[in-house]
Amino acid sequence: MDRRIDGSRVVLGVCGGIAAYKIAGLTSTLVQHGATVDVIMTAEAERFVGALTFSSLTARPVYTSLWDAPERIPHIRLVREAQVILVAPATANTIAKLAHGIADDLLTTALLAARIPVIVAPAMNSAMYEHPATVENLALLRARGYEIVEPERGFLAERESGIGRLAPEERLFEALANALARGETFRGERVTITAGPTREAFDPIRFVSNASTGATGIALAREAALRGAEVTLLLGPTHLEPPAGVRTLRFTTAEQLYDLALAHAVGSDVVIATAAVADWRPHERSETKLKKSDDDLHVRMVRNPDVLAALGERKGATFLVGFAAETDDHEAHAREKLARKHLDAIVVNDVRDERGFGPGENTLALLWPGDGRRELGTAGKTMLAARLLDAITELRRTR
Ligand SMILES: Cc1cc2nc3c(=O)[nH]c(=O)nc-3n(C[C@H](O)[C@H](O)[C@H](O)COP(=O)(O)O)c2cc1C
Repeated sequence: MDRRIDGSRVVLGVCGGIAAYKIAGLTSTLVQHGATVDVIMTAEAERFVGALTFSSLTARPVYTSLWDAPERIPHIRLVREAQVILVAPATANTIAKLAHGIADDLLTTALLAARIPVIVAPAMNSAMYEHPATVENLALLRARGYEIVEPERGFLAERESGIGRLAPEERLFEALANALARGETFRGERVTITAGPTREAFDPIRFVSNASTGATGIALAREAALRGAEVTLLLGPTHLEPPAGVRTLRFTTAEQLYDLALAHAVGSDVVIATAAVADWRPHERSETKLKKSDDDLHVRMVRNPDVLAALGERKGATFLVGFAAETDDHEAHAREKLARKHLDAIVVNDVRDERGFGPGENTLALLWPGDGRRELGTAGKTMLAARLLDAITELRRTR
């Protein structure tokens, strides 16, 4: 009995590929290890294997349509009750639909509604797998944090050898077991994340701010919630939506963030401070819009409170992680900040030419005292959030 699987709730999404029959074996293995398994089959999958095979193995109904018992809203209920969903074999068609948000059957609708980890195991002819459309669709899914269990090279149904064979059962089982274990790493823990820019106004419509969008902190909040944490997100002005299921408190200025952080972050198990807090604010704020004149405008800027340093002073048992957005001499500046603010770790973020801001890719490294260092690599923000939380979990374990 695998302890990671025992007692878990798993959804298997089976698509219309020849490898569909192999999922019967996996289903049986999961049931033998103590999982409760719900199987969703696409209409095309039913051409390859009978639903009865799966319902016999799971001793549960198999779901094949949105419309069998629509009053029970199966697409929402199934993914709410489960901890992880594996799509295997994932056809080129279903991968494309998932990548583009198409929800025209029970499986794709459930996938769109899923806030649980989604694992995708493609299986198809090598020409289909190597087609640029499939390659790009899989890259999109990876960037959004879906785990892809790569297919293998070997004998394909077309009686030729190539890439595209469904990964063997042991790899699918391990991917599920690891996702379930990861889902527990922050169970019951309080995680507070700060995100976004601040705005420091000098009249009712003008302010000093920066290019932060909050995307990194939002991705971290979503990922921490997926791993079972009770997340509080302190979020600055941004057009990005905070993740569902996360308590979000809004701020505009650095002083507001300072107050929120002292009220909500102190005493958390983990604090990750990604917010780009203005170091200065205008000394005076005009109550009315400043009128245009031919004179230069002189705005005297005064120092804002240092949110991260204040959290460092009140650290207690909190694992405190800062972000260092730097344009030069990155590592030296980050290490100096790590020591001065009593942080447990710091993420170095190269922000030359505004890189690192917004929804695209970023390159990060994690540093900790005693010359500790781990490259988090270049990836989308969801993937980087997952890698950072993995690294934090390991660091906390070694304490
Ligand atoms: C005999 C046969 C085998 C197929 N095997 C695969 C396969 O292994 N992978 C794949 O992506 N599509 C395969 N297809 C094509 C899919 O069945 C087809 O794209 C279908 O629309 C997929 O529907 P679904 O994604 O809703 O399950 C196969 C089709 C046939 C007729």
